[in-house]
Amino acid sequence: MKKRLFTPGPTPVPEHVLLTMAEPIIHHRHPEFRELFERLSKNLQYLFQTSQDVISLTSSGSGSMEAAVVNLLSPGDTAITVNGGKFGERWGELCRANGVNAVEIAVEWGTAVTADEIVESIKAHPETKAVFVTHSETSTGVAIDVKTIAQAVHANSGAVFVVDGITAVGALEMRMDEWGLDVVVTGSQKGLMIPPGLAFIALSEKAWKLVESSHCHRYYFDLLKARKSLKGNDTPWTPATTLLIGVDVALEMIRKETLEKVWERHSRLAAAVRAGVQALGLRLLAKSPSNALTAIWNPEVPDVKVFNNALKKKYGITVAGGQGHLKDKIFRISHLGYYDELDVLSVIGAIELSLRDAGYVFEPGAGVKAAQTVFLNESW
Ligand SMILES: Cc1ncc(COP(=O)(O)O)c(C=O)c1O
Repeated sequence: MKKRLFTPGPTPVPEHVLLTMAEPIIHHRHPEFRELFERLSKNLQYLFQTSQDVISLTSSGSGSMEAAVVNLLSPGDTAITVNGGKFGERWGELCRANGVNAVEIAVEWGTAVTADEIVESIKAHPETKAVFVTHSETSTGVAIDVKTIAQAVHANSGAVFVVDGITAVGALEMRMDEWGLDVVVTGSQKGLMIPPGLAFIALSEKAWKLVESSHCHRYYFDLLKARKSLKGNDTPWTPATTLLIGVDVALEMIRKETLEKVWERHSRLAAAVRAGVQALGLRLLAKSPSNALTAIWNPEVPDVKVFNNALKKKYGITVAGGQGHLKDKIFRISHLGYYDELDVLSVIGAIELSLRDAGYVFEPGAGVKAAQTVFLNESW
C-alpha cells in the first residue's frame, strides 16, 4: 500500500532532500560544513524575512520556544501568553517552569486572539516584558493576525513580541522585520520539509538587548554563544549535520519557487481542502483557519473508528487526531510543506471513501468536485 502522510509535522520530505541526506556524513568543523552553514543561514534569513541572524538549534521546535523564554526573561518577570490551543498553552508552561509570571489570556479553542484582547491585558499588566503568541495554532488549525497584533503591542508597550511560527514559517505570509516581530521560532519538520530534530530562532535588535540583561538559567540554549559561533559559520555544539544538509536543499527549493509563491500555494491548497470537506457536510473547527492545516469536527457517524481505520488501513492516509480536550473530537489534515493539488484531491477522495465505509450519507464526489473547482476557478 502506498502511504501518504497528511500530519502537520512531521510533514513529507521531498525525495531529493532525502537522497542528499543519504550522502556520506561530513565533519562540522571543516570548511565544507562552514560553506554550507553560511549559505543555509542566509537562506533562513530569506525564509524569516529578516536581516537578523537566524540561529539553528539542535532540538525539536519546543527547544526554540524554551530558548526564547530563557534568553529573554528573568525569574519574576511578567509575560503575556495566549492559551487558544495546546501550543499557546505551552508558552505559559515554559514561562512558569522558569519562574516567569505568565498572565494567560484564555481564548476558546478554535477562535483567534485579537489585538484588542492583548492590549487589554497589556494595560492591566504594564510591567509586561514579553508577549507570546502562536501564529498558526496547530492543535486547532487557527491562524492569528500577527501583523496587526505586533503593531498593537508596540503602540501600547515596550514589550517584545514573540511569535511561535512553527507551523507558519514557510506556509503563511510572515515578514519578521517589516511587521515588527521581535522573535520568531520554527522547527524543521513543518514548512521546511525536513525530518524532526532542528529548531530555528531569530531575534530583533530590541530582543537581543533583553537577552544581554536577562538571567534565567541557560547553557545549551545560550543564544549569545550561538550568535558568536554563527559569526564564524559555526555552532557551539555538534549540530545535526545531516538534517542541516537537508535544510540547505529544502531552502534552495523554497528560493526557487519564491516565498510569495509558496505562501500562495498554501493558500490555494487550504482553500481547496476547506471547500472539499465542507461540501461533504463536515464542519471546520477554526473560525479563522490557518493555511497550514485544516481541523475538522469528526463526522457524525455511529463509529468514528471505522472512518479512521479505513483512512489509515485501507487507503494508507495518516491524518492527525485532536489534542487535549479535542482528542477524539476532531481530525486534522495537513497541507503544510511538500504538497500539491493532486495531494489534496487524493486526501479528499480518501475521506469520501472512508466516510462511505463508515456509513455516512453524502453525495459521492461532492468533496473532490468542490476541491477541484477551487483549482479550476482560480488562475495561477
Ligand atoms: C505551533 C506549534 N508550536 C510548537 C510545537 C512544538 O514543536 P515540537 O513538537 O517540534 O517540539 C508544534 C509541534 O507540533 C507546533 O505545531
